Amino acid sequence: MHPHGLPPKASLPGIRQVIAVASGKGGVGKSTVAANLAIALKQQGFEVGLMDADIYGPSVPMMMGLGVVDQQTTPFPIIKYGLKLMSMGFLVDPNQPVIWRGPKVAQAVAQFLTHIDWGILDYLIIDLPPGTGDAQLTLVQSAPLTGAVIVTTPQDVSLIDARKALRMFEEVRVPVIGIIENMSYFMADDGKKYHLFREGGGRKLADESRTPLLGEIPIDPQVGECGDLGEPMVSKHPSSLIAEVYRQLGRIVVQESAKAAQTGNLPEVQL
Ligand SMILES: Nc1ncnc2c1ncn2[C@@H]1O[C@H](COP(=O)(O)OP(=O)(O)OP(=O)(O)O)[C@@H](O)[C@H]1O
Ligand SMILES: [Mg+2]
Repeated sequence: MHPHGLPPKASLPGIRQVIAVASGKGGVGKSTVAANLAIALKQQGFEVGLMDADIYGPSVPMMMGLGVVDQQTTPFPIIKYGLKLMSMGFLVDPNQPVIWRGPKVAQAVAQFLTHIDWGILDYLIIDLPPGTGDAQLTLVQSAPLTGAVIVTTPQDVSLIDARKALRMFEEVRVPVIGIIENMSYFMADDGKKYHLFREGGGRKLADESRTPLLGEIPIDPQVGECGDLGEPMVSKHPSSLIAEVYRQLGRIVVQESAKAAQTGNLPEVQL
């Protein structure tokens, strides 16, 4: 039994690295980042899985142009755009509220990890639900995580919540691979960067937690359009600026997650 009375970590022998994408605050673009990062890693030649751990508000099916499937006839994970995918949204209509309580949610996620034949994967990306409550804690403790990436936006409110996420990972001794600042700037046609919110928030958070700033992703209305159309931007527009930024992010995540796997660089949280 785990010292905190939690189930032991699942063992995933075929998966090299398990990376959670987290944030303290909702709506900062975790799911979008998880999906596009997964595609970028795939484009670099890795075998990649994307697991949606957001049981109450799954977004992987819609982002990938999928929905509820016939469980009897569909093998899981589902493969699309070269990724291996699993989500509660393949099993239950997202418009029907799932009213499961904590332990059952943890059980569902544990089953996604262990009862599904992921095969051999270089990276399994886990899209976490927003927040730092019990549900997230159980999730990050039951999955054998290499580490977590924390998504924030440049604004102060988002940073306050991102610090909570950092603290949560520190508490459960999960390494933080680094910080991703999403919606950092808008790149105008004239090639000028416009910082619509405040500037440098991701850098500040990275510095104070002594974790790397992995990337700064621009705002692009096409990102949202692609999400609605069911194909991530990096897959649909591989020659766009966003796609290039994600591929660069992918290269850094490969490097930094390898370091985290070796040394377990825990964040230093100064509050
Ligand atoms: N870089 C970006 N440029 C423009 N729109 C973006 C960008 N990143 C994310 N979005 C949009 O912002 C919205 C929220 O993104 P997303 O669902 O990925 O956030 P989330 O953090 O996973 O939310 P939740 O907390 O609800 O899980 C979506 O409509 C998405 O298309
Ligand atoms: Mg999400």
